Amino acid sequence: MKCLVTGADGFIGSNLSLELEKAGHTVIALSHSGRNAKNLEGFKGTAPRGDIRTFDYDSLGKLDAIFHQAAITDTTVMDEELMYSVNVTAFEKILDFARRTGCPKVVYASSAATYGKGSVPMKEDQVPAPANIYGKSKVVMDKAAREFNKKHPEVSIVGLRYFNVYGPREYHKNKSASMVYQLYSQISSGKPPRVFKWGEQYRDIIYVKDVVKANLCAYTFRGSDIFNVGTAIPTSFNKTIEILNGLLKSNKPTDYFDNPYDFFQEATLADMKLSNNKLKFSPDFPPEKGIADYVKILKQPNP
Ligand SMILES: NC(=O)c1ccc[n+]([C@@H]2O[C@H](COP(=O)([O-])OP(=O)(O)OC[C@H]3O[C@@H](n4cnc5c(N)ncnc54)[C@H](O)[C@@H]3O)[C@@H](O)[C@H]2O)c1
Repeated sequence: MKCLVTGADGFIGSNLSLELEKAGHTVIALSHSGRNAKNLEGFKGTAPRGDIRTFDYDSLGKLDAIFHQAAITDTTVMDEELMYSVNVTAFEKILDFARRTGCPKVVYASSAATYGKGSVPMKEDQVPAPANIYGKSKVVMDKAAREFNKKHPEVSIVGLRYFNVYGPREYHKNKSASMVYQLYSQISSGKPPRVFKWGEQYRDIIYVKDVVKANLCAYTFRGSDIFNVGTAIPTSFNKTIEILNGLLKSNKPTDYFDNPYDFFQEATLADMKLSNNKLKFSPDFPPEKGIADYVKILKQPNP
């Protein structure tokens, strides 16, 4: 297949571009500025640069699939107009490009942020309750995909609501990188791990290799829908620290501090029934296995 990956030098986009290329596909890897070019080291395909809001998609010719990963991913961005122009309007432009040029498949990154502080386990059909502008933009994206699909069912559109993704090539996200990465960085540099009191908040953490797998399932899926991408396993911050301490042979006591954010999610957990049964996706890496694989990579001289 000839496909486009947007956000291709980002965390998930780079892992996906490299894996698609390894599997023999012709990949066009669209990056914004090339700021994270290190993430695409070894990639041999075409790698144009441009803003997803203004990029000349028609110059790419006919595609078999689009994997849309680009977005403003910083959940603290408060500029609603900017957030919507990048996360929603550019997505609508991509859907329209797919329709006009006969591209039969668009897979896009939605998010568990659409559920916000909603009840767990989080199911695809529960009422969205986003807690920030980023989450709202993903709810609007999902709505735009559904509405577009009603008018143009010939384009298969699959939304993937990623939960908390961790894995190689996320270093550039700094404060927005995963808790696994933050805690690994603290422990491996000899500092005590730091989490909000009392570390029993939990997340559904999903390894980026499984997120790539979910995108491949979405490519072969017939039809249009929105699916959770998690493990359905709750992993508390304390549990993550315990796993990392074991792998790094550390036993520094955890530094617990007060949580200053009132929009903080206490828990995220995916209901994976729809994904398992309809998308035929199930993860290969439960948290202990995924973190062990990641730590092995992080310990290499130039991860
Ligand atoms: N990492 C997670 O835990 C997680 C969870 C849920 C959803 N997601 C979604 O997955 C997708 C990928 O996220 P990520 O974790 O790889 O983040 P990332 O920040 O590493 O990647 C986002 C990419 O989008 C690009 N981008 C931003 N604005 C752009 C613009 N105007 N034009 C062109 N490119 C632009 C950035 O340059 C970056 O490469 C995003 O849509 C994000 O919302 C991620």
